Amino acid sequence: MRLELRGLTKRFGTLVANDRIDLVVEPGEVHCLLGENGAGKSTLMNILYGLLQPDEGQILLDGKPWTCASPRAAIAAGIGMVHQHFMLVPVFTVAENLILGREPRTRFGLLDHAAARRRVLELSQRHGLPVDPDATVADLSVGEQQRVEILKALAHEVEVLILDEPTAVLTPQETDELIEVLRAIAASGTSIIFISHKLGEVTRIADRITVIRRGAVVATVDPATPEGELAELMVGRSVELVVAKSPARPSGPVLAVDGVTVVDAAGSVVVDDVSFQVEAGEIVGIAGVVGNGQSELITALLGLRTPVRGSITVRGAELVGRSPREHLDAGIGYVPEDRSHDGVIGSFSVAENLILDLVDGAEFSRHGVLSPNAVRRNASRRIEEFDIRTGSAADPVGALSGGNQQKVVLAREMSRPLELLVAGQPTRGLDVGSIEFVHERIVRERDRGAAVLIVSAELDEIYALSDRILVMYGGRIVGSAGPDTPRDRLGLMMAGVRPPQEAR
Ligand SMILES: Nc1ncnc2c1ncn2[C@@H]1O[C@H](COP(=O)(O)OP(=O)(O)OP(=O)(O)O)[C@@H](O)[C@H]1O
Ligand SMILES: [Mg+2]
Repeated sequence: MRLELRGLTKRFGTLVANDRIDLVVEPGEVHCLLGENGAGKSTLMNILYGLLQPDEGQILLDGKPWTCASPRAAIAAGIGMVHQHFMLVPVFTVAENLILGREPRTRFGLLDHAAARRRVLELSQRHGLPVDPDATVADLSVGEQQRVEILKALAHEVEVLILDEPTAVLTPQETDELIEVLRAIAASGTSIIFISHKLGEVTRIADRITVIRRGAVVATVDPATPEGELAELMVGRSVELVVAKSPARPSGPVLAVDGVTVVDAAGSVVVDDVSFQVEAGEIVGIAGVVGNGQSELITALLGLRTPVRGSITVRGAELVGRSPREHLDAGIGYVPEDRSHDGVIGSFSVAENLILDLVDGAEFSRHGVLSPNAVRRNASRRIEEFDIRTGSAADPVGALSGGNQQKVVLAREMSRPLELLVAGQPTRGLDVGSIEFVHERIVRERDRGAAVLIVSAELDEIYALSDRILVMYGGRIVGSAGPDTPRDRLGLMMAGVRPPQEAR
């Protein structure tokens, strides 16, 4: 099916989120949308999927004008979408999620679980996307949940498949697998619209790339375009893809982790006797394939879960057994991996989210009463400083684009004096311009004398920031490496293989 958008415009109040967008997607084409945070990519796709109505413009399917009234109408017309934020029901199984809203029923009107399971298995085999139909969605990794989302879209006869930042939550290996799967789907004639901030994968998967800036199309280019040029098209200025940073000058331990062991709800050891230190003035990066205990380690450092053994001190003060509040009071700043769960409250305003963990601080309240003026002043300062794109400070955070929500978290956590900054996937979902900015801010925290601990699944990010790299595998720190360790060597360590020259 040939999809054409003509002059699509969408406004939210005075904000023009989509500004006379023209776009053609040919049958079987992988068409990538690139654009900075808040450029209007998700909005455009939500229009195409019937979740939003355009203010002006036209959609044409195979040359015929078409109005998309609802997702149901989109699906009926052959358009499927995998959203930026997953829309699965966590307590249901994979099979149940797949048939939600269109349940096959038995003769007696009961949900036909057997038919649903068969359908899952058939689809998952046809497209090379393995999942267990009986697994509860809440128990799946994000990569697996995404497979379910994709299968759910493919369960209908799709001719256009939209994926909004599908790789933001994937490991590099999962990304490679996904790209293969999508290539195969495109080869069968289905068009794919693929949104991503990662220039490397966009140039690998795309047939054509359309760049959107501040709501308008700036160019449609072919994938041979150099990454630097794409970055410049996106943000309208040249971008440093690598941060400039001077050698670290560590000046004494801030964080000391000693023999920390964490078990999960099922009683398995997920962090296994981990010990390390981070000094003031250095950035330590924890590299590792997602799911090797990094998340559990971070949450233990923040007091969100209690280790069964070991000690965690910041500037000598023991934190094990203390509340998360006491951890923050010890001078820890925290950028969580999953901002929508742990970082922001979607229905609260931008201004409120910017002071979430500071509400009882003297700066914003008097005798326990919040001062609206102080809150507003703080918000306008942070919005300007972090270039948060929002209509107003009073907008709910949930209405911001994904990348701008992340900036709200960073702005809040970096706006008080920190002894230690702990950040999980700090630039997940951010555009290249924002990544440059966040990396600069993290380096600035270091140079101000904070100890910084970064966990990232992006090797590029580990290399860009770390003064020292620790590798985590199977819940243990399996090695440490300097910032100029070759990638393949680090890759082996991440896979649990000890480099031969280090064998004892
Ligand atoms: N429901 C809404 N109400 C008000 N403003 C909105 C709403 N939805 C989106 N916006 C605004 O429209 C603009 C475009 O947002 P959109 O989510 O489309 O960006 P995006 O390109 O997908 O960004 P990202 O890369 O961060 O996901 C943003 O400024 C956003 O704040
Ligand atoms: Mg988006």
